[in-house]
Amino acid sequence: MAIKVEPLDGPLGAVVYGLDSSKPLSEEDFRTVEQAMCDHVAIVAPDLEENVPWLRDFGTRFGPLVPHVLDQYHHPDGFEVSIIARNTGTAESRDTAKPAGAFWHSDLSYEKDPSDAIFLYSTQIPSRGGDTLAANMYMAYEGLPEKTKQRIEGLTATHRWGWNTGGAAPKLTKTQQDTHPDVVHPVVRIHPKTARKILYVNPGYTMCINDVDRHESDDLLEELYGHALKPEYQYRHKWELNMLLGLDNRASIHAAVADYDEPRRMLRMIVGNTERLGKAA
Ligand code: SIN
Repeated sequence: MAIKVEPLDGPLGAVVYGLDSSKPLSEEDFRTVEQAMCDHVAIVAPDLEENVPWLRDFGTRFGPLVPHVLDQYHHPDGFEVSIIARNTGTAESRDTAKPAGAFWHSDLSYEKDPSDAIFLYSTQIPSRGGDTLAANMYMAYEGLPEKTKQRIEGLTATHRWGWNTGGAAPKLTKTQQDTHPDVVHPVVRIHPKTARKILYVNPGYTMCINDVDRHESDDLLEELYGHALKPEYQYRHKWELNMLLGLDNRASIHAAVADYDEPRRMLRMIVGNTERLGKAA
């Protein structure tokens, strides 16, 4: 069956019909999915049979997958795939105060080479709740008042692992901590594929705006988040079993909703930074 892309009625996202995890993804189909991610910031692929090597290979088509810093949750069938489980009563189930990712963030913004994209695949979902929210950071940038755009142009921000994650991120071990020093990124990034400007700060990992005093930094970040998290820039993803959600981490931020107490289990792949790692954009 040919792949079909249907844009969602909202600020981001398109449903991709016809992906088949029982056979390798053809180059043509990959290009269609890649273009859909680029055009719509997120893709949703329903009814995909669980196949971890296929998922890993699918993610790898977008760029090298980055094994997550929390290596205790790497999948036994592929360390580039992480398990995010809660309330499952198994050893892999996380017990942080809040579920993993339950704060607004862009993956790996705390790394020198942040992530291009994230893919999440559902293997267990609660009967209600457990949605994932995403905000379109192209639209957030474009909707800023001209004065604010001028103010933030050329500014940089410092990002730190676990900065403001409200009990959703486990503490790093000493080794994990040592390999994750603070990093600096521009507040306004240019997307390498679309050349559009993106507001590149997030409440979870952005610690401060550099070269301004602490109060000014706090006020500015509060203003930027208040704007970026307006409902008109947000998509609420409702999970079905065996569904894949892909998000462009450059052009969006996302948050897991902490409103369930039944089992929920996701497989997650994080695509590295192809811009820096030298893969053609
Ligand atoms: C994540 O942000 O990595 C997880 C999001 C989710 O589980 O919905």
